[in-house]
Amino acid sequence: MEQKKVTILDLKEKKARGEPITMLTAYDYPTGLLVDRAGIDVALVGDSLAMVVLGHENTISVTMEEMLHHCRAVARGARRPLLVGDLPFMSYQVDEREAIRNAGRFLKEGGMDVVKLEGGSELVHTVRAIVEAGIPVMGHIGLTPQTISKLGGYRVQGKDLTAARALIDDAQSLEQAGAFSIILEAIPSPVAQLITQQVGVPTIGIGAGPGCDGQVLVIHDLIGLFDRFVPKFVKQYAKISPIILEALTSYRDEVIAGTFPGPEHGYEVSEEVLTALLKEFGEWR
Ligand code: KIV
Repeated sequence: MEQKKVTILDLKEKKARGEPITMLTAYDYPTGLLVDRAGIDVALVGDSLAMVVLGHENTISVTMEEMLHHCRAVARGARRPLLVGDLPFMSYQVDEREAIRNAGRFLKEGGMDVVKLEGGSELVHTVRAIVEAGIPVMGHIGLTPQTISKLGGYRVQGKDLTAARALIDDAQSLEQAGAFSIILEAIPSPVAQLITQQVGVPTIGIGAGPGCDGQVLVIHDLIGLFDRFVPKFVKQYAKISPIILEALTSYRDEVIAGTFPGPEHGYEVSEEVLTALLKEFGEWR
C-alpha cells in the first residue's frame, strides 16, 4: 500500500510535537527509491551532486539542466518524501523574475514539491517573490557552499557574537519572507538550538547539533561512497566503496579466468535447433 505523501504541513506539525524530521539527499532513481523505502521524510536533490556524483571541485558549476535531469530521476523513485529541489548558483541571484522562473521549472519539469536556496537577509525579496508565486521555499544559512569563496572556505559559521546574531537575524528574516523551513549548516550547536527556538518554522541541521528540528546528511557521505573528504559532522553508517570495489575486481578476475559466466547464467536452445545447427555448421563448442 502506498504511504501518504509528506507535506510541509507535516513538517510543521512535527516541530510542534517535538518529533525529529529526517532528511537526506538523493540524486537518482535508486537513491530516491532507497530514501523512500527507509521512511525518510524529506528528499533533497542537492547541488552537492556536482561534487559527489559529477566529480566537480565544488557546487558552483552545476547547471539548471543538470539539476532538473537528476530531479526527474529522484521523483520517479521517491514517492512518499517531500521532494526539495536545490536552486543552483546564479539561478536565483540575478533578479526575482528569473528566480521565479527557475523555481517554477523545478516543480513543472523536475517533479519537485518545493525549492531550496542559499542565503539569509539579503534574499528576503527573492524568497518572498517565489513564495508569492506559489512555490514553497526552504532557506539555507550558515555554511553556504555556493558562496564558499566569500566565506573563505568550508568553515563553521556563527562562532562570534556578531556572526551568531547575524544568523538569528537571517533565520527570522527568511521566516518573515515566507520560508517554510531553514537548513542550518555548520553552526555551533548552542547557536543552532537558539535559532531553532527563535523561529516558528522547522530547522534542519547539518553540522548544527541535536537542537535542530531535524537532521540532513548527504547520502554519499552516510554510506561511504564519497571519500575525497569526510566532514567532521558526518557519521558514516556504512562504507560501501570497498564492498563495490571488491565486487568489481572479483567480476574482472572471473571474466579473465573464464569462470564467469557459468552455465547457470546462460540460455539454452532446444535439442532440435542444436541438431540442425550442428548439421549445418559442424561442431563449434
Ligand atoms: O546540496 C546539498 O546537499 C545541501 C545539503 C548539504 C543541505 O545543500
